[in-house]
Amino acid sequence: VQTELQTVMDEVTRKTGADISPAGTVHILFGSQTGNAERLAHEFESQATRRGVSAVVTELNEFGVARLAEVPLVVVLCSTYNEGNEGDMPDNAVVFWRALAADDAPRLENLRYAVLALGDDGYFDFCHAGQLIDERLAELGACRLSERVDCDIYYEEDAEAWTGRMVDNFAEELPTVPSAGPSFESPEKPTWDRSNPFPARLVQNVLLSKEGSDKEVRHYEIDLSGSGIEYTAGDSIAVQPVNDPALVELFLETVAIDAEFDVEGETIRERLLRAWEIRTPSPDLINWMVERDPESEIAHASSDRRRLEEWLYDRDLIDVLQSSENARPTAQDLPRLLRPLQARQFSISSSPMTKPSSVELTVATVRHGADRERGGVATTYLADRVGMGGEVLVHLMPNSAFGLPEDDETPIILIGPGTGIAPFRGFLQERRARNARGRTWLFFGDQRRSCDFLYESEIDAAVREGVLTKLDLAFSRDQASKDYVQNRIIENGSELFSWLEDGAVVYVCGDAARMAKDVEHALLQVIEQHGDHDKRSATEYLEKLIVSKRYLRDIY
Ligand SMILES: Cc1cc2nc3c(=O)[nH]c(=O)nc-3n(C[C@H](O)[C@H](O)[C@H](O)COP(=O)(O)OP(=O)(O)OC[C@H]3O[C@@H](n4cnc5c(N)ncnc54)[C@H](O)[C@@H]3O)c2cc1C
Ligand SMILES: Cc1cc2nc3c(=O)[nH]c(=O)nc-3n(C[C@H](O)[C@H](O)[C@H](O)COP(=O)(O)O)c2cc1C
Repeated sequence: VQTELQTVMDEVTRKTGADISPAGTVHILFGSQTGNAERLAHEFESQATRRGVSAVVTELNEFGVARLAEVPLVVVLCSTYNEGNEGDMPDNAVVFWRALAADDAPRLENLRYAVLALGDDGYFDFCHAGQLIDERLAELGACRLSERVDCDIYYEEDAEAWTGRMVDNFAEELPTVPSAGPSFESPEKPTWDRSNPFPARLVQNVLLSKEGSDKEVRHYEIDLSGSGIEYTAGDSIAVQPVNDPALVELFLETVAIDAEFDVEGETIRERLLRAWEIRTPSPDLINWMVERDPESEIAHASSDRRRLEEWLYDRDLIDVLQSSENARPTAQDLPRLLRPLQARQFSISSSPMTKPSSVELTVATVRHGADRERGGVATTYLADRVGMGGEVLVHLMPNSAFGLPEDDETPIILIGPGTGIAPFRGFLQERRARNARGRTWLFFGDQRRSCDFLYESEIDAAVREGVLTKLDLAFSRDQASKDYVQNRIIENGSELFSWLEDGAVVYVCGDAARMAKDVEHALLQVIEQHGDHDKRSATEYLEKLIVSKRYLRDIY
C-alpha cells in the first residue's frame, strides 16, 4: 500500500507539473487549512517568477518526503491547526508530517530550506506545525537558509517581508529564466478583505431549533448585492463582529477607567466596542495578571496548561479580571494587553446557483452562565444586535479544498452533525441545480429529533427527489444510551466501504474536538473490517484518500 500511496502522490505531482521543474527551481511547499498559507505560497511564486526565478508551488502531502532528498531548495509555508491532527498540522500536511517524523525519514544533507509559520498566538501551541517542520528538517541534516518566521493572525506584513527577502536572495544566487511564468495564475486581490470588509445587510434571522432544544441554532441570510463577491459552495464567510455594549460598560466598571480616555484619536469606549477582544482574554493579559498577582486563582490555574484551558473555558474577560483585585490594568495598559477583535468564520450553507447575491449561514449561538448572561461575540451579535436590515461587515474566505467534485457522477459522502450540516445544505442545492446524477449520502445528527433536526423538511425533500440517495441519522438523546453519527458509519460499514471503492469523496464538517476524531476512528474501523486491512494499512488507505483529495474536512 505504501507504494500505492507513492503512486497516488506521483500522479498528483505529475498533474501539477512539479516534477518537470528545471534545476535551480525553488519548490514552494504549503500546508493550509483555510487558504492563508496557500495564498501566500502563490504570492511567493508570482514574485519569484517575476524576478526570473523558477518556482513551483506544491501542497506538502502531494510533494511527499522522498522528493525532499532529490531537490536542493524548498521554502515551506505552513499554518497550525490544533484540532487533533498529528503535530497540529493542517490536513494537507498530515501525511507529509507523518513521513518526515518517522524513524526511516531520509537524510537531507543536500537540502536548503526556510520556513514561514502561520498561527494565532491566542492558542497555546503558537505556530507549532511550522516549528516542528523547521526543527525536523534541521535534524535530518538540511541547511536552514534563514531563521523561521512565526506570524500571528495579522500575518500580511511579516509574510511579505519574509517573501521579499527570500526572493531577493534567490534572484541573486540562482540562474534566472526570463521567460518563466507562474504555473498558477494568482487570483486578483479581492476588493473586500479583512482590512476592507463589505458592508452587507442581514435580511433573514430565523430560529431553527424548536421548543425543547438545549441549543439555539439560527439560519441567517446576508445580502451581498453590489459587492461583486462570487462564492462557491463550500466557502466560508467571515463576519466582523461588534462587542455587546452592555459588556463594554461592565468592563469599564470592572477596571474603573475613564471611558473617554483617548487612544490614538478614539475613546476607550469606542475601542472596546469595535476594536478589541473583550470576550476571551489574551495570553499577554493572562501573563500580566499572573506576574502582578502570583497568589491569584488564575496564577494557580496557569501552572498547568490543561487546567488553565479548563479554568478559562466558561469564563469571559470580566470574570478573569474580577478574579484578582491586585491585577487591574489601567487605560494606558489596555492597548498592549487586549488583542484585536477578530472576524469569525462561518461555513456558507447556500449555493450560488440558488442564491447568487446572498449567503446563508447556520449558526449555533453561544450562550452560557448562571449569575450573568455570557455569550460568544459574533453569534450573539448576529442573533441579538444586528437586527433585520442591519449592516454586517463581511469578507469571503474561499475554500477551494472543500468544493464539490467537478464530475457530477462522483459519489459523495457528507458527514455533518449539528451546524456541520451547513456546507452540505449548499452542496445539496448545487447538486439539485446541476441535476447531478452521482450518489449522495448524508450522515446527520444532533441531540433530539423533535427539536434539533435542522432543515428537516429540506432534507426529506432531497430524499424524495433523489438528490439524496441515502440518509442516516443519529440523535444522541432520544434513547437511554448516546447515539452518534459514527455509530451509523460503523453499522453501514460494508456499504460505505463499497462507496469508497467506487471513488466516493468523503466530507466531514463540524465539531473538531470530538466528532471529527470519532468519525475518523469509525472510518478507519470500516476500512479495516470491510477492506481486509490491518491497522497500519487502513491508515495508509486513509492517507491515500487524503492525498487524492477524497477525504476533506472543514472542522472547527
Ligand atoms: C472554517 C470554520 C467554519 C465555521 N463554521 C461555522 C458554522 O457554520 N456555524 C457555526 O455555528 N460556527 C461555525 N464556526 C465557528 C465560529 O467561527 C465561531 O467560532 C463560533 O460560532 C463562536 O463564535 P463567537 O464569536 O460567538 O464566540 P467567541 O466569542 O469566540 O467565544 C467562544 C468561546 O466561548 C466559550 N464557550 C463556547 N461554548 C460554551 C458553552 N456552551 N459554555 C461555556 N463556554 C462556552 C469557549 O471558551 C469558546 O472558546 C466555524 C469556524 C471555522 C474556523
Ligand atoms: C480551528 C482552528 C484551530 C487553530 N489552532 C491553532 C493553533 O493551535 N496554534 C496556532 O498558532 N494557530 C492556530 N490556528 C490559527 C491558524 O493557524 C491561522 O488562522 C492561520 O493563519 C491559518 O492559515 P491557513 O488558512 O493557511 O490554514 C487555528 C485556527 C483555527 C480556525
